[in-house]
Amino acid sequence: MPITPTPKIWMNGELVAWEDAKIHVLTHSLHYGTGVFEGIRAYETATGPAVFRLTDHMVRLQNSAKIIGMDLPYGVEDLVEATKDVVRESGLPSAYIRPIAYYGYGEMGLSTLPCSIDVAIACWPWGAYLGDDAMTKGVRLKTSSWTRLDHNTMPPAAKTTGNYVNSTLAKVEALKGGYDEALLLNPQGMVSECTGENVFVARHGKLLSPPLSAGALEGITQDSVMTIARDLGIDVALSELARSDVYIAEEMFLCGTAAEVSAVNSVDDRDIPCPGPMTTAIGETYHRAIRGEVDRYKDWVEHVD
Ligand SMILES: Cc1ncc(COP(=O)(O)O)c(C=O)c1O
Repeated sequence: MPITPTPKIWMNGELVAWEDAKIHVLTHSLHYGTGVFEGIRAYETATGPAVFRLTDHMVRLQNSAKIIGMDLPYGVEDLVEATKDVVRESGLPSAYIRPIAYYGYGEMGLSTLPCSIDVAIACWPWGAYLGDDAMTKGVRLKTSSWTRLDHNTMPPAAKTTGNYVNSTLAKVEALKGGYDEALLLNPQGMVSECTGENVFVARHGKLLSPPLSAGALEGITQDSVMTIARDLGIDVALSELARSDVYIAEEMFLCGTAAEVSAVNSVDDRDIPCPGPMTTAIGETYHRAIRGEVDRYKDWVEHVD
């Protein structure tokens, strides 16, 4: 999906014009993949644009930085306010938001210790990531030939830019094979997640999703889905899953900020009932919650004004 420019990008404490938000080609993180980032969405609500679980995303950005030993020069509250400024300046009713912190220009070599740390936040309009009918028709998954990152190589719990080489290899392989998305197994052969989404699988009437220990990112949508599921009376838990669990799933869906809740109709050409009743119920509630239409989840919606 091409990027549509918006008026301003926040860079190191200032709002700069979109076309001036540039970095030098010798920026450290460009060479070594040492940035950390977030993917966030703002939605149109009855009372103006609101960012979904903005504070939680900024806490995760801080945690990603902590995992790779990067000392962010801004606190969670500063980043929350900066994000609201960027969305407000855009004038957009809804937007995708991309904060990134990276080691800057001025030092080269593998040590990050002498490097500056720069932070930027941009936003732009962005539609449904896996297609407009992902919720109803579902998406086709293929188990990747690539293995999800191991905890002692590239910590998968951090949204580090370099980690996404693994995701892009798997995504492109799946697309070239005629599938919509890749399912990644961890080095132990257990299900981890997709390239930018957590997975939920129904087995014996219970909804299961692989945890951080399986190499999955601790998804904010995953957490929202678990809360919604419990409130709907659905039995849900974080759990290890084998490949066979997926093939004989009673239903399955993916979730993430970009993909929201997207049903899965097959994995490795094994059909999965789609969309399943739990997927539909959770997906519908999630789509109302992100727009501030569900009272019990009002705290998830952080207004820009
Ligand atoms: C690898 C990966 N897994 C899962 C997710 C879903 O996380 P969230 O729901 O916080 O967007 C993302 C998106 O950031 C991701 O990149």
